[in-house]
Amino acid sequence: MKKSLIICLMVAALVCVFALPAVVAGNAPADNMVLKTPEGVKMTKAEVAFPHKAHVDTKIDCMTCHHKAESQDAITGCAVEGCHMDASKAAKKDKKGFYQAFHSKKSVASCLGCHKKEKKAGNEKAPVSCKACHPKK
Ligand code: HEC
Ligand code: HEC
Ligand code: HEC
Repeated sequence: MKKSLIICLMVAALVCVFALPAVVAGNAPADNMVLKTPEGVKMTKAEVAFPHKAHVDTKIDCMTCHHKAESQDAITGCAVEGCHMDASKAAKKDKKGFYQAFHSKKSVASCLGCHKKEKKAGNEKAPVSCKACHPKK
């Protein structure tokens, strides 16, 4: 093999080793999150700790929670245009409202919906009480 070809292959291999994880990690969220109300909305309860990685580690599919994302690369937060943006009192019962995104008992995409289902199935590790998720106030 020509020396230049070998160097070329080595460079290509290096690019794969270093660049690929960076591309994959590019969309990686924080391991542990603190969830709050959208900008400008007053909070009546304590902010919520959400161990994102712990959920991924229990093998819950990304799309179970990010239910409207077209692909793993197109994942956004919950309170975005067209989704669960309305945090007004009037929208509390609306399934597209901010509140129901996290408390709907009808959807496993919501914190409470999935945790209730887990509890029913005998898993005591998924909190269902208001205080467990909103500890301080
Ligand atoms: C148990 C539910 C759940 C699972 C499973 C889950 N996520 Fe998330 N993810 C969330 C929540 C909740 C947020 C915070 C959303 C917010 O801030 O509005 C989030 C945030 C994110 C964000 C940041 C979005 C942004 O722009 O603010 C990315 C990226 C993401 N998740 C990717 C993934 C990927 C990839 C997987 C699968 C490996 C995954 N998530 C699995 C619930 C989940
Ligand atoms: C699709 C199902 C599902 C959804 C949606 C979900 N969870 Fe969980 N959650 C679980 C399961 C399962 C466990 C228990 C994990 C275990 O067995 O170790 C858990 C555990 C937890 C724990 C306890 C972790 C610990 O180490 O004690 C917290 C806190 C939590 N979830 C917060 C949330 C919040 C906040 C949301 C919404 C933003 C959410 N979860 C959405 C399935 C879910
Ligand atoms: C499994 C976790 C979980 C449980 C259980 C839970 N919540 Fe929440 N709640 C959240 C998340 C996540 C948000 C969105 C982030 C935020 O606003 O703090 C939220 C937001 C809220 C909000 C809007 C924000 C605010 O501070 O005013 C209210 C009100 C609320 N929850 C009340 C309750 C009540 C009442 C209960 C018990 C019936 C409850 N929550 C149970 C996770 C939970």
